[in-house]
Amino acid sequence: MRLPVALQSLFIQIAALALAALTVRLLPALAGYQPTLWQFAFIQGALAGGLSLLWRQPRWWLPLHAGFLPAALVALHVDIAAWVYLLGFVLLGGFFWTTFRTRVPLYLSDRKAWDAVAAQLPSDRPFRFIDLGSGLGGLLLDLEKRFPQGEFTGVELAPASWAISRLRAALSGSRVRFLRQDYAALDLSGYDAVFAFLSPAAMPALWQQVCAQMRPGSSFMSLSFAAGDRAPDAVVTLAPHPRHRLYVWWT
Ligand SMILES: C[S@@+](CC[C@H](N)C(=O)[O-])C[C@H]1O[C@@H](n2cnc3c(N)ncnc32)[C@H](O)[C@@H]1O
Repeated sequence: MRLPVALQSLFIQIAALALAALTVRLLPALAGYQPTLWQFAFIQGALAGGLSLLWRQPRWWLPLHAGFLPAALVALHVDIAAWVYLLGFVLLGGFFWTTFRTRVPLYLSDRKAWDAVAAQLPSDRPFRFIDLGSGLGGLLLDLEKRFPQGEFTGVELAPASWAISRLRAALSGSRVRFLRQDYAALDLSGYDAVFAFLSPAAMPALWQQVCAQMRPGSSFMSLSFAAGDRAPDAVVTLAPHPRHRLYVWWT
């Protein structure tokens, strides 16, 4: 079984801490040299980066591991009020706390993707559209303006993202409904078009939900990530990178 990356990273940091402590203990006896606290932090960072590479984590974890303990030391030496850290923790938790479980972080689709989604929607009849994991609500607020006959719903688990989308809707007088819940607990049979921009980790379970619940004649769109064992009925290329694609299935 492969551990979630966040747990791997915790394990790597602890292991690197233990190995660095051992190195610092042995160095005086072996080389007659006593490293300073800063040197200890850099040794730990190098070890953590190495372990991250060995574990084949995504490359962007390497600088995070290497810089974590040195950054913590810098933070200890800079005079920043404790509430600033608390605020940072609460804000990050508000956006990313659920990522630990869902393995879907917050990143936002852009106007190019919104245009591609809009091109898949009917302009001559009413329809119900849902964004699974609606983030800050940008896609839905944009589509609502283009399709006055559409009914738009967003479902979002992260409290801060959901609160921002609700606020945006209230300030702009939007009719978009933003629900704060897990999309896995929803019934997708009430929607004509379902959109998701999630992560590879979320796609297998979502594909099963789509196959089990969506009605014939409705459409499922996934930005960036293909799903399931059925080839998409349409693939819209937004940019040359393979991730910049909109996959469309007609159920
Ligand atoms: C990559 S963002 C996409 C945001 C938005 N749909 C967009 O296109 O800009 C994915 C969002 O899905 C949310 N999410 C992940 N798993 C979820 C779940 N099971 N239920 C509801 N929201 C979820 C995350 O909190 C995150 O905000």
